[in-house]
Amino acid sequence: MTAVGIDAIEIRTGRLKLDLPGTFAPAQGEDPEKYTKGLGLNASSFPDSYEDIVTMGANAAHRLMERKGLTPEDVGRIDVATESAFDNSKPVSTYVAGCLEQVFDGDFHHANKGERKFACVAATQAVDDAYNWIRAGRSRGKAAIVIATDTALYARDDPGEATQGAGAVAMLITEDPNLVEISAEQGYGSADETDFLKPQQQFPSVDGKRSMQVYLARMREAVEDFESVAGATHPDDYAYIPYHTPFPGMVRKAGLLGYRHMIRDTSVEDDLADEIGRQPRREAFDDDEAYEEAIREYVDALAETEHYQEWYAATVEPTLEISREVGNWYTGSVHIARASALRDAYEKDVDLEGQRMLVGSYGSGAQAEVHAETVREGWREEVEAMNVDEQLDRRYELSFEEYEEIHDAHNHDVDSDVEELTTPDSEFVFDGWGRMGERQ
Ligand code: HMG
Repeated sequence: MTAVGIDAIEIRTGRLKLDLPGTFAPAQGEDPEKYTKGLGLNASSFPDSYEDIVTMGANAAHRLMERKGLTPEDVGRIDVATESAFDNSKPVSTYVAGCLEQVFDGDFHHANKGERKFACVAATQAVDDAYNWIRAGRSRGKAAIVIATDTALYARDDPGEATQGAGAVAMLITEDPNLVEISAEQGYGSADETDFLKPQQQFPSVDGKRSMQVYLARMREAVEDFESVAGATHPDDYAYIPYHTPFPGMVRKAGLLGYRHMIRDTSVEDDLADEIGRQPRREAFDDDEAYEEAIREYVDALAETEHYQEWYAATVEPTLEISREVGNWYTGSVHIARASALRDAYEKDVDLEGQRMLVGSYGSGAQAEVHAETVREGWREEVEAMNVDEQLDRRYELSFEEYEEIHDAHNHDVDSDVEELTTPDSEFVFDGWGRMGERQ
């Protein structure tokens, strides 16, 4: 079977940066360590007043096509995944395609365009759609572009405000990809949940604490479902495990639970038995409460073991490095985590070709999806071409007052006319509804 997967990735961050410990924490009267140590975040990215989901997505896709030497004729499909859409009829991909047609010769008249929605898991679903389209033999040898783009803003003073972010990830899905091959095996954990909703409203109504429990429950189910088709997972099987990252502190919890699950009935559990005992088994307890208490104690002890800490530092921690600096990008978050992992291997000069990653996507509402990816021969040159560090470094750092103004500027309910804080440096800017323009 020919490999199908991600050939290339481009990341586009919002041009503004809010320093969480330095600027946000003092204004909120909070301890800076709540953000850096608790949530695991240093900063959030925000869009300048001339940026939105279309411009960020189009700028990412533009760089992707230009770098890969593609014309519109080479692209048979453009899907945008977002939970920040402004149009309930016309998909964001048509706006993006309109932008790209201004700068490339040719058009996308024969490309299938769509918009995927299932909270943050939607971009993984769009990658799936592209994978299936290629596998089904319907692609006519063309590539698919999948764009994850969001302005993940919360209402002011909502606890989620600390986890905001904005940016886009554009991915090229092809046969014989340079970056990663995607496994045919997948696992799902899916249930009707109401922890995070945006019914005809811009900012989410979110029960933050519950949303974390739902994330962990659905992720566990997805891993179990994945194992039912791909066989048991083991911590040594994966070079990296990129998870959906609403904030790194969430992934700290997911990583620990994932590890506990993976070591069950393995030699790792045997090795740790003298130090912390074996995992409690339900049949040894009279009631759920006592069992759950025993599990909590076991997990706390597991978190302290050198074995776990070394595994986490090598396999999960490196996936969080970009996220720490940009916050939650909703649909883009898990794809940033993958990019962060690959960048880590590149910087450490690891020979990653042929190694596997286990990718855990999640969207509120709620659904988790787990699949494996095998790193391909061309991964190094693809990672080298990403300019994410350069983009992060050149963000404009907001004062708290500027942050308030820019939040208002992106709040549909508030009239705002803020000046641009940065000079546009790329092709597409937002200059009014229906005028998504190429910069003159
Ligand atoms: P909060 O209530 O303000 O924060 O909101 P907290 O008091 O729970 O503190 C957060 C952590 O910091 C805790 O760590 C504290 O102990 C620690 P934990 O106990 O959980 O390990 N902390 C400190 N650490 C060191 N020094 C200190 C200090 N103070 C506190 N001084 C909450 C947190 C996540 C609830 C909030 O940010 C929120 O509502 N966020 C939005 C919802 C969210 O991100 N949920 C995640 C799971 S759902 C998901 O991922 C889907 C999503 O991406 C949407 C989609 O799919 O579309 C959100």
